[in-house]
Amino acid sequence: MCRYYDQVIIGDSLEVLKGIDSNSIDLIITSPPYFQQRDYGNRNLGIGNENSENKYLENLFEIFYESVRVTKLTGTIVYNIGDKYLNGGLSLIPYKFAVRAIESKKVFLVNNITWAKLNPTPRQDKRKLIQSTEPFFIFAKTKKYQFSLENYLKHLDELNRKQGIPSKKLGRTYFELIANSELTKTEKENAEQQLNKAIQSVYKREISGFRMKIRGIHKLAYGGQAGGRNNQIINNGFTIIKINGNKLKKDIIESPVEITKDNKHPAVYPLYIIQELIKLLTEEGDIVLDPFNGSGTTCLAAKNLKRHYIGIDINPEYVNLAKNRLKHNKYEQELFI
Ligand SMILES: C[S@@+](CC[C@H](N)C(=O)[O-])C[C@H]1O[C@@H](n2cnc3c(N)ncnc32)[C@H](O)[C@@H]1O
Repeated sequence: MCRYYDQVIIGDSLEVLKGIDSNSIDLIITSPPYFQQRDYGNRNLGIGNENSENKYLENLFEIFYESVRVTKLTGTIVYNIGDKYLNGGLSLIPYKFAVRAIESKKVFLVNNITWAKLNPTPRQDKRKLIQSTEPFFIFAKTKKYQFSLENYLKHLDELNRKQGIPSKKLGRTYFELIANSELTKTEKENAEQQLNKAIQSVYKREISGFRMKIRGIHKLAYGGQAGGRNNQIINNGFTIIKINGNKLKKDIIESPVEITKDNKHPAVYPLYIIQELIKLLTEEGDIVLDPFNGSGTTCLAAKNLKRHYIGIDINPEYVNLAKNRLKHNKYEQELFI
């Protein structure tokens, strides 16, 4: 049992993390201050205001390695870092961070999720496109990391199911292709039979869709090397690729930038994304820790989802803000559980 359960702590993360047992946290999820981006009212205390990018990364890595140490072997570490224009060009700091992290061999990168901002900050610069994405890097310590794909963006599955009434024309093109193909009579009969079965599975909602590949019409997979599907195409004349009930879950998530007029923190990340990642990477009762807690978005998401939380911030004002937010649960959006 961790002594900081369900608490928001004032302090330097490096020091606080040193007091937490190794392999005791299920998920670290955080957004550190970006390099020279903002003054959080702790200019000489926290990280972000270093004179050089290298020094910034060095300080960030001290905390990152402690984050890794306290994470369980089944746990994950998610860092969201934004990029910055320096001398007119993008610095790619988030990616330098991710490369160094994987080169350390302490973790591997499970996913690089792109947050696509629906309302990015407009800029006057006519010689650049508007920056509207930020990465969320998911790192793991071992291959045993928890990952509940079925819980991630579940509300969208339901939406898709409701909207996805199959068309009456489903499979018609494939019947025509089979009829005009080079397949033998028996192969054609077999292909039509299997195609009918796949269509029925879609109507019965057992699968959400399928693709068919027919010999002489479609290309073999991966340049044609021998393998399960290619063998089916060569030997039977066709293959059917079933698409499961879940729509493809991609490494991109859309969400507006948080606009929470009552929240005085200047860099709040979206509760929605954090909730989805907590659902993906933990179970009820697990412990979620944010070493750069700010206004406490991570703690709030964890609390809403019945996980334990630990938040750490160097700035006492933000710690109070987070505690208040947790107590009153205001400014918050609808929960999609
Ligand atoms: C980008 S903000 C996090 C915002 C948060 N995700 C939210 O939604 O409100 C980064 C926070 O890290 C804190 N910070 C900077 N250096 C720190 C350190 N060494 N230890 C703990 N907190 C630190 C800052 O005070 C700031 O609140």
